[in-house]
Amino acid sequence: MTRTILLTEPIAETGMALLRTAGEVHVAGTTDETALRPLLAAADALIVRSSPVTAKMLEAGRRLKVVGRHGAGLDGIDLVAAERLGIRVVGTPGANSESVAEFVILAALALARQAPRAAAALSAGAFGPDRSLPSAVVAAGLTGTMLTGRILGLVGLGAIGRGVAARARALGMTVIGHDVAVTKPPPGVRLVEMDELLGESDVVSLHVPQTEQTIGLIGATALERMRPGGLLINTARAGVVDTEAVLAALDSGRLGGYAVDVFHPEPPDPGDRLLRHPLVFATPHMAAMTSDALDAMAVAVARGVIDHLG
Ligand SMILES: NC(=O)c1ccc[n+]([C@@H]2O[C@H](COP(=O)([O-])OP(=O)(O)OC[C@H]3O[C@@H](n4cnc5c(N)ncnc54)[C@H](O)[C@@H]3O)[C@@H](O)[C@H]2O)c1
Repeated sequence: MTRTILLTEPIAETGMALLRTAGEVHVAGTTDETALRPLLAAADALIVRSSPVTAKMLEAGRRLKVVGRHGAGLDGIDLVAAERLGIRVVGTPGANSESVAEFVILAALALARQAPRAAAALSAGAFGPDRSLPSAVVAAGLTGTMLTGRILGLVGLGAIGRGVAARARALGMTVIGHDVAVTKPPPGVRLVEMDELLGESDVVSLHVPQTEQTIGLIGATALERMRPGGLLINTARAGVVDTEAVLAALDSGRLGGYAVDVFHPEPPDPGDRLLRHPLVFATPHMAAMTSDALDAMAVAVARGVIDHLG
């Protein structure tokens, strides 16, 4: 019998071509649960990008053998329900980690150099003809700092944390890291406890999954422990950071800048203060969105799903 592979949204052609060798491929073109449920009834495999997979969706998939997640974290999938129903879940760990690691360097530089604010001021015509642009930048308080010689603290030393560490070291940063499961640090990284990491780092970057232990990991207490004017980068998950506490720390000047790529809900409400705050560099969950990573994830998820279709 022909197998049906349902995708909520299309993936890169490299992956689509592989899937076509294994069955009939159907792209729903929606992530809406109600619209998906009838389509799931006929599916042997489901592939999602970043949208949730609920217990109800899994129950609707009476023939479903495998769910593929085009990405690293599986936190959007009801893994308990999948296990109860005997449905395998596969992700694409590592396929996008280099892209995210590069993006973290971009975010660190953007914050350290106040580049988004400066670009916005230039576009808004904020610099008059009465002085040179470089001196206007200084007068507007848009002077940056270098990353070279500064300390980077990585919370989580998995695939992405390690990729960031290597790049940051190449920039001449000192790198420290904290990870509950790592005993042998990556080259050139000193393992420290969380409090030490917060107190020593000029830039803190988060690379942990969202779990019961990491929800609210960076709240008011952690922010108090950070160096005054320190920079925080969150490409992990929205729940790892208490957004209200971050906004308060930015308003008080305690925190020097916040780069955030992940929101709850996604997309964020257009009125979300994070999107307007001058010290926030907010991006639309794009850290992994390179053509390189999209190809790698598409091939990895297609292979993973095909393997489990039997
Ligand atoms: N913004 C994006 O586009 C994007 C893309 C990919 C991944 N991510 C996020 O980045 C996260 C990290 O990805 P990865 O590929 O490096 O994952 P990974 O599994 O390779 O590494 C995660 C590390 O976090 C550590 N960890 C878990 N709980 C911890 C805790 N309480 N304190 C300290 N360390 C802890 C683990 O031991 C592990 O070493 C993912 O879970 C995902 O949420 C975001």
